[in-house]
Amino acid sequence: ATAPVVLGIESSCDETGAGLVRGGRLLGQALASSMDEHARYGGVVPEIAARAHLHALGPVVRAALTDAGLGLRDIGAVAVTTGPGLSGALQTGVAAAKSYAYALGVPLYGVHHLAGHVAADTLEHGPLPDPCVVLVVSGGHTSLLLVTDLAREPVVHLGDTVDDAAGECFDKVARVLGLPYPGGPAIDSAAREGDPRAIGFPRPMTGPRVDPYAFSFSGLKTAAARWAERHPDGHVPDAAASLQEAVADVLTAKAVAACRAHGVGTLVVVGGVAANSRVRALAEERCAAAGVALRVPGRALCTDNGAMIAAVGDLLVRAGADPAPPDVSIDPSAP
Ligand code: KG4
Ligand code: ZN
Repeated sequence: ATAPVVLGIESSCDETGAGLVRGGRLLGQALASSMDEHARYGGVVPEIAARAHLHALGPVVRAALTDAGLGLRDIGAVAVTTGPGLSGALQTGVAAAKSYAYALGVPLYGVHHLAGHVAADTLEHGPLPDPCVVLVVSGGHTSLLLVTDLAREPVVHLGDTVDDAAGECFDKVARVLGLPYPGGPAIDSAAREGDPRAIGFPRPMTGPRVDPYAFSFSGLKTAAARWAERHPDGHVPDAAASLQEAVADVLTAKAVAACRAHGVGTLVVVGGVAANSRVRALAEERCAAAGVALRVPGRALCTDNGAMIAAVGDLLVRAGADPAPPDVSIDPSAP
C-alpha cells in the first residue's frame, strides 16, 4: 500500500504553516506570518499571534493544497504541533487540525515542535542516519540531542541552554544595537559589513569545569549592552559580526564535541538560527576538520513551517504509531 498524504499544521508561534508530505517527499507547502504585526512591540504578542492564525489557517491549508496540486479529499492523515509554544496559538492550530481530521475521517497525529525542526532536514536530505547528533537552535530552544529514531522518540537529551535561547540572544542584542526585529536576520546582514574580531565577546560555558553540552546566552546580551553604552558611536556591524562569531563559535564547538564524544558521524543543525550564515559556515568548517558529515536544511526549512510537521506525521504513519485521541490537547510547555 502506498503511504497516505499527510497534512501538517504548525501554529506554535508567529508563523502559520501548512505542508503536505507523502513517503518522505514534500508535495507542497504554504506559510503566513504575523511577524510584521509584532515588530512594533519588539517581540511576539501571544494574543495577536493567535488571532492571526485564526485568519490564516484556512487560506494557508488551501494554498498548500494548490501548491501540491491536490484537493482536500487527497489528505489521508493530519499532523499538528501540540507543543511547546504559545497556548492560544497552539489551540487555533489544533482546533483546525481536529476539524480537518474529523470532517475527512482521517487519523490525527500530535507532533512535538522540536521533532518537526529535526524532521525538516529529512525532506531535503532523506532519512536521518542512526544515530545522529542534532543541534536545535531557534528563538525558543537551544538543545543538543542524540537521535536514534524520530518516529519512536528515543531522543537522548545531551544539553540545553540554562537561560536564553540562541535566537533570543540575537533578537535581544539586535534591540540593544538598534537593529530591527526580528534580530537574527538583521544581525546576520549587518555582520556582513563588520569585523568578527573587532570585539572580544565572551564564549559562555566553555571553560574546563562546565557542562560540555550546556549553553548560556543571557550574558552576551549584557556584554553587548555594555559595549553599546561605552561606544555610543561604535560601528554596529562590528558588534553584530563579533556577537554572531561568539554565538556560532560556542554552538558549533559544542555540537562537534558531542559528535566526537559519542562517536557519531553526522551532525544535523536545524531551527531558525540554523539559517545564520556564520553558524552554517563555521559548522561546515569544523565538521570537515573533525570528519563529521554535516546536514543543514535550506533556510526556508530551518525557520518554522508546516512541512516539517507533516514530515513527522509521515514518519509516524509509516512507523504504525497510534493516532492522537480525538480529545487531544495542547501541551504549551512540552519538555
Ligand atoms: O525556528 P524559529 O523560526 O522559531 C522558533 O521555534 O523559535 O526560529 C526563530 C528564531 C528567531 O530568534 C530569529 O531571530 C532566528 O531564529 N533567526 C536567525 C536567522 N534567521 C532566523 N538568527 C540568526 N541568523 C539568521 N539568519
Ligand atoms: Zn521553531
